Amino acid sequence: MKPFYIFLILLTLFSSVQSSCKTKDQKLISKAFKSVSGFNSSTLTCSESHITKIILPSKNLTGTFSWGYLKNMSKLQILDLSGNSLQGHVPTWFWSSFSSLLEVNLSRNKFGGRINNTSFSISTIQKLNLSHNRFSNIVQLSTFQNLKILDLSHNNLRTLPLGFENLTKLQHLDLSSCNLKDSIKPISSLHSLHYLDLSNNSLTGNFPSDFPPLKNLKFLNISNNNFIYNNKTPNQNQNQVIIHRKKQTKPKSKKLILAICSALSTLVLAIISIWVILIIHKKMKQRSKMKKWAISLPVMMNTMNTKVEKTGPFEFETESGSTWVADVKEPTSAPVVMFEKPLMNFTFKDLIIATSHFGKESQLAEGRCGPVYRAVLPGELHVAIKVLEHARDVDYDDSVAMFVDLAKLKHPNLLTLSGYCIAGKEKLVLYEFMANGDLGRWLHELPTGDTNVEDWTDDTWELQTGVVEASPKMMGWLTRHRIAVGIARGLAYLHHASSKPIVHGHLVTSNILLTDDFEPRISDFGLQINSSSNGGTKDDVYCFGVVLIELLTGRVGTTETIIVARKAVKEEQHVRVLDERLLLEGDSMVSEMVESLIIAFLCTAESPSKRPTMQQVLGLLKDIHPHEPSF
Ligand SMILES: *[C@@H]1O[C@H](CO)[C@@H](O)[C@H](O)[C@H]1NC(C)=O
Ligand SMILES: *[C@@H]1O[C@H](CO)[C@@H](O)[C@H](O)[C@H]1NC(C)=O
Ligand SMILES: *[C@@H]1O[C@H](CO)[C@@H](O)[C@H](O)[C@H]1NC(C)=O
Ligand SMILES: *[C@@H]1O[C@H](CO)[C@@H](O)[C@H](O)[C@H]1NC(C)=O
Ligand SMILES: *[C@@H]1O[C@H](CO)[C@@H](O)[C@H](O)[C@H]1NC(C)=O
Ligand SMILES: *[C@@H]1O[C@H](CO)[C@@H](O)[C@H](O)[C@H]1NC(C)=O
Ligand SMILES: *[C@@H]1O[C@H](CO)[C@@H](O)[C@H](O)[C@H]1NC(C)=O
Ligand SMILES: *[C@@H]1O[C@H](CO)[C@@H](O)[C@H](O)[C@H]1NC(C)=O
Ligand SMILES: *[C@@H]1O[C@H](CO)[C@@H](O)[C@H](O)[C@H]1NC(C)=O
Ligand SMILES: *[C@@H]1O[C@H](CO)[C@@H](O)[C@H](O)[C@H]1NC(C)=O
Repeated sequence: MKPFYIFLILLTLFSSVQSSCKTKDQKLISKAFKSVSGFNSSTLTCSESHITKIILPSKNLTGTFSWGYLKNMSKLQILDLSGNSLQGHVPTWFWSSFSSLLEVNLSRNKFGGRINNTSFSISTIQKLNLSHNRFSNIVQLSTFQNLKILDLSHNNLRTLPLGFENLTKLQHLDLSSCNLKDSIKPISSLHSLHYLDLSNNSLTGNFPSDFPPLKNLKFLNISNNNFIYNNKTPNQNQNQVIIHRKKQTKPKSKKLILAICSALSTLVLAIISIWVILIIHKKMKQRSKMKKWAISLPVMMNTMNTKVEKTGPFEFETESGSTWVADVKEPTSAPVVMFEKPLMNFTFKDLIIATSHFGKESQLAEGRCGPVYRAVLPGELHVAIKVLEHARDVDYDDSVAMFVDLAKLKHPNLLTLSGYCIAGKEKLVLYEFMANGDLGRWLHELPTGDTNVEDWTDDTWELQTGVVEASPKMMGWLTRHRIAVGIARGLAYLHHASSKPIVHGHLVTSNILLTDDFEPRISDFGLQINSSSNGGTKDDVYCFGVVLIELLTGRVGTTETIIVARKAVKEEQHVRVLDERLLLEGDSMVSEMVESLIIAFLCTAESPSKRPTMQQVLGLLKDIHPHEPSF
């Protein structure tokens, strides 16, 4: 009996799912697409009884859409069928039959025919995009009184639609490339316009008197038209002269007007371009103020003039306004101990000089542990100096022991400690300077791997380093894969090389630095002064998974990015989340990326016990692209 009950329960479950997936609206939509090929009815969501959105852009749909079935879909708000190859006429009732329809996007299809207001009710549509279709004539727009955005560009309209005077809310109007020949005057009633594109038509009229108020416009393109510059505006001499001539020599006028208008358009375009450039410039400025790029040059300070007071304590202010104090009387009394080059005799005084008194212009970052400075020490020794603010209370001997241990951890993918300096309570550690900054910056802040152009403008130093060679190709999959393998190697070394595993505890893209040839070096390990709460190596594996997701998606590794990436793997829709910049690289590469995404999925398993070890991860990653040179 029991199996029979189970069967019954399953049957009821199954049928309830079935019926909830076939609401009246869904049936209607399926019917509306019955003459359309490429439509997948299982893409319709089963969650709601009334469908409010039909969003199917670029789905390779071809055929004729049966509009009639939409008539009873009373709750429809958004219809987006853009980027398909649908054809046919849009019936006139459609525009004003819905009480809630707000956005309609039919752009880039093969829809044709006329649009006219045979119906007498007002359309609720606010955004209408009919661009790149075959509409031959749009006779009346007066029912579209709620329109804010109207894009009719790239249709063969031939005559300007009527009823613009009723579109009082219209802010955005694109009529470019519509083969229009009329006077532009009816548009002058559109007082709310911010955006107006009339380019590539044969429109006539006076500029600017036949135009809407120019002071409200944020974008205007009138190039390739037959406008006449208005002789009532006195301050543009050149155009006045031309208009004057036009009056004298009528037969030649057509060509002249064209010339005037292209000159005029060039002027307008120039103004727009300048405006755009100014905005971009302003944005860049703001950005450079907010964040300092790790590869920006060391300020070429005049070290000779840096005065060092004879006796301490020495107080330094960081970029964020906090201070640190080196409580030493004599700056030469605190030695810099170098592990690699023990013959170099530096003291705290050399660090003060090389950083211009630990000035803000030498500061690279405000790290998790404290400020980080950049300095070139005598002998062309290019270093990053980190002040370990959290280690103030660690006593001298313990610190020295810790630094000596850390310096023993040598691996091509670890940023090994080069030296240290203990000045009073402050512990400073020295690392080799990494010219290409950190991975986070490289992935998320530089457009397609270009290094920061604004930093080149006033220095030549950058040009001598390998930095400039960072072409978009450097952002490619092979580089990213090599970086992933390098990080995995470094972490595996930390976890497995010593008798006791060393947990990094804070692996993020900002503490993975890149050498001149984009080899990753993990930094910031072994310095968890008060780190007992650390979960263990499996926490590092999780963090590695997040870094791998960032490498693959090009997105910052937020919780949402991780959820989306994991979901894509579960649904076998891997390609959906891959960085667009990577997708150009061909199918074999894409399959490698997909495999890597699956590894990231394993690493970010919720249960730590399900995550692989770093050694296993390294093996898997190396298998993906075995031709990689290894060391
Ligand atoms: C339709 O979509 C579902 C899931 O969205 C997918 O499993 C199925 O393979 C698709 N069918 C076709 C014919 O594309
Ligand atoms: C679109 O559909 C056509 C056949 O209707 C097919 O040949 C083509 O490969 C499809 N393109 C995409 C991107 O799916
Ligand atoms: C729309 O609804 C009306 C009445 O509610 C009905 O007579 C008509 O058949 C329906 N049309 C479609 C296409 O379902
Ligand atoms: C089409 O219009 C909808 C609704 O206005 C919008 O969300 C979507 O981004 C548009 N698609 C394109 C390709 O412009
Ligand atoms: C209309 O759709 C096209 C793409 O299909 C898009 O390029 C254009 O920006 C859209 N217009 C508006 C006003 O959003
Ligand atoms: C548009 O519709 C009106 C009725 O609202 C009608 O008088 C007119 O002839 C139609 N025009 C065209 C070109 O279809
Ligand atoms: C429809 O267009 C005609 C002109 O063709 C106009 O007289 C009429 O007022 C319009 N109806 C609506 C509702 O806008
Ligand atoms: C459109 O605007 C004109 C002139 O302002 C007005 O006479 C007409 O009634 C308006 N039409 C509608 C449908 O509001
Ligand atoms: C200008 O419009 C014509 C058709 O009116 C079109 O063929 C051409 O591609 C358009 N040019 C541009 C630059 O959009
Ligand atoms: C203005 O329109 C012309 C012709 O359609 C086009 O070539 C040009 O790129 C447009 N300029 C801007 C700034 O959009």
